[in-house]
Amino acid sequence: MVVTVNAGEKSSEVVRALCGSLAALVRAVGFRDLEGRLSCVMAFGSSAWDRLFRGPKPKDLHPFREIRGQHHAVATPGDILFHIRSTRMDLCFELATQIMSQLGGAVATEDEVHGFNYFDDRDLIGFVDGTENPADDAAIEATIIGDEDATFAGGSYVIVQKYLHDLSRWNELPVAEQEKIVGRTKLSDIELDDAVKPSSAHNALTTIIEDGKQLEILRDNMPFGDVGKGEFGTYFIGYARSPHRIEQMLVNMFVGRPPGNYDRLLDFSRAVTGTLFFVPSATFLEGVVSDAPIAGPTSIERGIEGTPPSPSDGSLGIGSLKRGKT
Ligand code: HEM
Repeated sequence: MVVTVNAGEKSSEVVRALCGSLAALVRAVGFRDLEGRLSCVMAFGSSAWDRLFRGPKPKDLHPFREIRGQHHAVATPGDILFHIRSTRMDLCFELATQIMSQLGGAVATEDEVHGFNYFDDRDLIGFVDGTENPADDAAIEATIIGDEDATFAGGSYVIVQKYLHDLSRWNELPVAEQEKIVGRTKLSDIELDDAVKPSSAHNALTTIIEDGKQLEILRDNMPFGDVGKGEFGTYFIGYARSPHRIEQMLVNMFVGRPPGNYDRLLDFSRAVTGTLFFVPSATFLEGVVSDAPIAGPTSIERGIEGTPPSPSDGSLGIGSLKRGKT
């Protein structure tokens, strides 16, 4: 769910109050079925951050920058992202309802997407999505801010984009052509050999090596759709400890590497939204006080100490985004 915060200090206060009580809401709804593994990430856009919190700002937080290349990556409004996950749709729905009833008239909904698991973690273009996601320590290393921005250690960045697929045109393509576009086999999900994989393959353009090291991100793409309206999509959700690597992937996809050698997936999939958010740690959120637009003291103390919290004991939940989506 992506919302914008309405004008006025009263709206900001209501949002700040939710920051402090979100963990309790997730506990209350999640306790109704612990096996449902309910979690919620609350993240803030750049201008919302300026309005809601005084004091230091996460150093890489800026509005999503649109990209005009072979295809267009649009930038759309969004102050707060709620990324709600569970194995049960009813838990997600109940938590979203509770959040929105606390927010009342303080926000306007820009977009709400209910994703679902499609067979063996496939997206609606029929390919397994998430295979090369980093797991365990590598996932934490890819996503959780450390000493590079000590005040906000334990936080993360997330970019979301809603893609709509032209499925009838996609399905007209022979499977061998689709595989060259994605860079993996469709049924067995094996990476194509470099000898046959084009440099424009999706998984080639989204592989970024810097100083001999691959810069990874953690994706939690979700299929969604509305059959009656002919709407079939992928909701791209990418977490990283710095937005630059995701932005570089987007440039490679939309402009091409080298320019012109762009991602052919985009000939069949159109980005209709695009927003960038900072995800504060759970400790930060709990320290936010509704009537004081100042970053929570706990986070600042923690930043001075320079010891990021263990993601496994915070409720950020990023460590739990592994290959298997629920
Ligand atoms: C229409 C939207 C998209 C679809 C359907 C899609 C689908 C896929 C599929 C099927 C794979 C191969 C399996 C896997 O490793 O997960 C993949 C890999 C990947 N995608 Fe996407 N993707 C989309 C958008 C994006 C965007 C916008 C980014 C980044 C800005 C991205 C980044 C990646 C990365 C980093 C990989 C792994 C590359 C590797 O290390 O092999 N994807 N995607």
